[in-house]
Amino acid sequence: MSFVNCQGIIIIFMLTLGVGFCTSCNCTRVNRHLYLNCVQTNESEIHDCFIKNEGAIYVFVTNSSLTRIPKSIRYLHRVQYLDFSYNEITDIDNHTLNSLRSELQILVLSYNNVSILRNNTLDNLTSLQELYLDNNGLREIEANAINSNLKSLHYIQCSYNQLEILDIGLVWVPLLFNYTVNVSNNDISNFTNQKGIRVSDFKKFNDSLRVDLQSNNLTTIDANYLLRLGKVEQIWDLHNTGIGGINILFNHLVCDCVLFPFAVYINVFKFMDDLNPVYNMRCGYPTELRSIPISEVSINEFNCSVPENCPDHCLCTRTIAFDLITVVCDSDTLDTIPYVLPEGRYINLSVHSSNVRELSNRLYYQNVTNLDLSNSSISTVQADFLPNFERIGTIQIYDNALTMLPEDIQNMNLEKLSSLYLHGNPFQCDCHTHWLKAWLLKNKAKVPDLDQVLCESGPARGKPIIDALDSEFVCVGINLVLVLAISFGLLSVLVILVFTAYLFRVSIKVLLIANFKCFQCLRRKVSTDLPFDIFISYSSCDDTYVHDMLIPHLENDGFRLFTQDNFIPGIPITDNILKGIDSSFTTLIILSNKFLESDWCRYEFEQAYVKVLQEKERHLIILTLDKKLNKERIPKTLKTYMKMTNYINVSEKRYMSRLLLALPRIQIRIGDSERTPLLNDSAKVN
Ligand SMILES: *[C@@H]1O[C@H](CO)[C@@H](O)[C@H](O)[C@H]1NC(C)=O
Ligand SMILES: *[C@@H]1O[C@H](CO)[C@@H](O)[C@H](O)[C@H]1NC(C)=O
Ligand SMILES: *[C@@H]1O[C@H](CO)[C@@H](O)[C@H](O)[C@H]1NC(C)=O
Ligand SMILES: *[C@@H]1O[C@H](CO)[C@@H](O)[C@H](O)[C@H]1NC(C)=O
Ligand SMILES: *[C@@H]1O[C@H](CO)[C@@H](O)[C@H](O)[C@H]1NC(C)=O
Ligand SMILES: *[C@@H]1O[C@H](CO)[C@@H](O)[C@H](O)[C@H]1NC(C)=O
Ligand SMILES: *[C@@H]1O[C@H](CO)[C@@H](O)[C@H](O)[C@H]1NC(C)=O
Ligand SMILES: *[C@@H]1O[C@H](CO)[C@@H](O)[C@H](O)[C@H]1NC(C)=O
Ligand SMILES: *[C@@H]1O[C@H](CO)[C@@H](O)[C@H](O)[C@H]1NC(C)=O
Ligand SMILES: *[C@@H]1O[C@H](CO)[C@@H](O)[C@H](O)[C@H]1NC(C)=O
Ligand SMILES: *[C@@H]1O[C@H](CO)[C@@H](O)[C@H](O)[C@H]1NC(C)=O
Ligand SMILES: *[C@@H]1O[C@H](CO)[C@@H](O)[C@H](O)[C@H]1NC(C)=O
Repeated sequence: MSFVNCQGIIIIFMLTLGVGFCTSCNCTRVNRHLYLNCVQTNESEIHDCFIKNEGAIYVFVTNSSLTRIPKSIRYLHRVQYLDFSYNEITDIDNHTLNSLRSELQILVLSYNNVSILRNNTLDNLTSLQELYLDNNGLREIEANAINSNLKSLHYIQCSYNQLEILDIGLVWVPLLFNYTVNVSNNDISNFTNQKGIRVSDFKKFNDSLRVDLQSNNLTTIDANYLLRLGKVEQIWDLHNTGIGGINILFNHLVCDCVLFPFAVYINVFKFMDDLNPVYNMRCGYPTELRSIPISEVSINEFNCSVPENCPDHCLCTRTIAFDLITVVCDSDTLDTIPYVLPEGRYINLSVHSSNVRELSNRLYYQNVTNLDLSNSSISTVQADFLPNFERIGTIQIYDNALTMLPEDIQNMNLEKLSSLYLHGNPFQCDCHTHWLKAWLLKNKAKVPDLDQVLCESGPARGKPIIDALDSEFVCVGINLVLVLAISFGLLSVLVILVFTAYLFRVSIKVLLIANFKCFQCLRRKVSTDLPFDIFISYSSCDDTYVHDMLIPHLENDGFRLFTQDNFIPGIPITDNILKGIDSSFTTLIILSNKFLESDWCRYEFEQAYVKVLQEKERHLIILTLDKKLNKERIPKTLKTYMKMTNYINVSEKRYMSRLLLALPRIQIRIGDSERTPLLNDSAKVN
């Protein structure tokens, strides 16, 4: 083969130059271009070729079986474009390239076998603009391989390699802007920050930084980890770092609880840069979410399974957005309700087809919202079963073996309970259960299957309990009907009293608040040692109004504001909101239809109001931006709150004055320096 080529070369050289000797390299110069092509690498021929053509500007040494970059390139004094693609170069030592004069602008090493790019290998190439290292076996780019010596660099092509980790120091390089890093088609699954760079130090040059991470092995974007990694202190700083686009398509992202904080950020910031590919990423898993843009996934889909504390024969899932644990146990080997479940603010527990016979107290009941115990063997409900439910919504005990309920249930506050399903149980109807009829009638709104709750024994057998005649609840020998009737009468009176008092309480509140609009009496002065006066809870949907109108006004009045700008990155938005509420005297909630229509905005917000409404002593003010709010979308608790208090609408006359009036004067507890941000001269306001 080499002999044949040799002959060919000899013939051509004899014809063209009239010189006859056997070479393995073809060294051709065309004006400023130099083409060197070797059948077999011969360093001395390459050396000669470079020396003869030291003025060449575009140099191509391709398809020549080179295993390293020839040292003789140092003779190419004027080279600007150097192409070594399609060789077998495995290593780049730290001298060869650095010995080049600094005019080199483009270096092409595509289709070689380079496995590592070492620190400082390119340091002398101060004019290098583009570096092509695609289609190598690149496994590592050392953290200091690309550094600020490469002042002119604006494109690195590292596609089709085997990188598993991307050091963010490759992306954020001091002094470089308008810079693209292409690491698509690698195996990247995680990030490091070996040089300890601080991302916030990089200033914005409009859309000047692009990272192509397509087709890698990223399964999640752990936002909290990344913010910590890049030492990002203020979330908003990210928008000053000049990220024009991080293209992360075609990675199989798992849309689960780990991704959730990132999904929150996407939804908070998407509106700022709708076309940025990072905001248009899609889920890869789970299968039912595949290809759905993350921003369109409903917040209750970001679930994770929770193996810790999950009982045998059960499946436990956490829905991170609500801190909800869902436990499903479907097994006839289960003969008792689990004693321990994974912890969560809300717990849904389903135990079907089990051998559970008795219901009694469990510590976690306080957080249970839905309890499904249908289709089991329950025959006894202990008296301590019910009092522990603080967040209960639905209890399903249908299709079991209950003959009665504990009588104590009559004294319990079932306000929170929305539904209790009881059908399919063999209730006994006699003098001991007469109270049950009254109780069912009284609570008929809470027992949706009332008509199917039947008497299994006694004279009323087969009838719905509520339709059984009072005279049918008899025990042989003893008749307690009268006693029961009296107790029932007393109980009813009590219920009516409590109910009236409850109604009255609401009216009192409404009355008080409605009539105390007067200037002086509402101008409360409060003492506080909290670091902030007002926490503005608003959604990014209303960002413009808040930043342009509200904040300047309030700041002008001397209030110390806690807004999203004070959020600490690296901790969940929820925690940030709670921190805001905790460290501010007043929580000011900005409400709009845009806000109510977005799941995500509501999520941010609900985290806040749940706490505020729970802690009654908190000072809460609601400001609405739309004349008519879509009432259906206002969360229930909030609706009640809005009925009780006056909220302020921006379309009202002098709404800003009203708002300021509603805000108490703040006096900081430490020291004497009283601050009176409000209305020292009323003329000042609006
Ligand atoms: C050497 O390369 C040039 C350009 O690539 C080509 O035109 C020429 O025919 C080659 N010469 C030989 C002897 O192969
Ligand atoms: C390289 O080429 C030179 C001159 O063309 C020749 O003398 C030498 O033997 C060659 N070396 C190899 C290793 O082929
Ligand atoms: C290199 O050589 C192969 C055949 O050996 C050929 O297919 C390929 O096109 C060549 N590449 C370049 C850049 O010359
Ligand atoms: C170049 O690499 C050698 C080892 O391969 C090392 O000893 C030397 O310090 C390096 N020089 C620079 C400037 O990095
Ligand atoms: C890098 O450039 C400097 C100055 O231009 C020179 O002194 C040094 O020797 C070069 N480094 C190498 C490894 O050639
Ligand atoms: C590339 O280098 C690796 C070792 O780093 C070697 O195993 C492999 O055979 C090389 N591939 C080619 C095409 O030279
Ligand atoms: C490369 O540079 C980084 C950052 O300066 C350093 O942490 C690392 O140890 C260096 N690697 C080697 C092999 O010297
Ligand atoms: C950024 O670099 C690209 C080429 O990669 C160029 O087309 C563009 O004009 C540059 N933009 C700026 C602002 O320098
Ligand atoms: C990165 O490389 C891939 C594969 O070569 C290419 O399809 C993509 O367009 C490149 N991206 C950028 C931003 O240059
Ligand atoms: C991608 O990551 C998964 C685990 O995250 C790993 O099992 C798999 O081997 C990785 N694939 C490649 C090509 O590195
Ligand atoms: C990324 O690396 C960090 C630190 O080693 C680790 O804590 C984290 O779990 C990794 N993330 C993924 C998705 O592998
Ligand atoms: C119940 O919820 C609270 C938060 O509201 C949490 O602190 C507690 O650990 C939860 N308890 C259980 C048993 O899940």
